[in-house]
Amino acid sequence: MKLAVIYDSKTGNTKQAAEWIAEGMRRVSGVEADAFSIHAADEDFVQDARGVVVGSPSYAALMTPDMHGWLLGASGKLALAGKLGGAFATEQFTHGGGETVIQSILTIEMVKGMLCYSGGGASGMPVIHLGPVGVNDNVEKHNGMALYKDNFLIYGERFAAKAAELFG
Ligand SMILES: Cc1cc2nc3c(=O)[nH]c(=O)nc-3n(C[C@H](O)[C@H](O)[C@H](O)COP(=O)(O)O)c2cc1C
Repeated sequence: MKLAVIYDSKTGNTKQAAEWIAEGMRRVSGVEADAFSIHAADEDFVQDARGVVVGSPSYAALMTPDMHGWLLGASGKLALAGKLGGAFATEQFTHGGGETVIQSILTIEMVKGMLCYSGGGASGMPVIHLGPVGVNDNVEKHNGMALYKDNFLIYGERFAAKAAELFG
């Protein structure tokens, strides 16, 4: 079963998070997972995928304009309806809007007919409500993406386990 992670990233943080999610997905037996930039998505792979997780940096607590455009436009070719959907974000401030970004991505995924999933509180620790958020150390020097690596890995694994249960 294929699973795809799709991201927008200008300075590498969201790309890194996407690669950690795909790595976590591959912990589940039978899963082939890969991460793609919105600017270079393998359309055949994404069309075949049973689940797609979408991630964006927080830009003024919103997804990037490129991600918004991609979700409303280019993603139309990718047969998203009926796939499992998830979302994640990165930001440079602890309260920089990552959750809002995730919520707005999930909203569009639902409008596209996707089945949205995060595991929520039901999966135990670490509790990830809507999706994982990574805070980089651009400004907050006590922070850094590496601190959030396990959350992205575990989120990917939980998402893949649910996809395997539904579609495997
Ligand atoms: C135009 C712009 C707006 C941003 N707005 C926010 C913001 O509202 N909150 C925040 O925490 N970070 C904000 N950031 C920082 C990015 O969200 C953060 O550095 C992110 O990890 C960048 O992802 P990338 O490395 O994948 O491009 C902004 C960055 C840019 C360029």
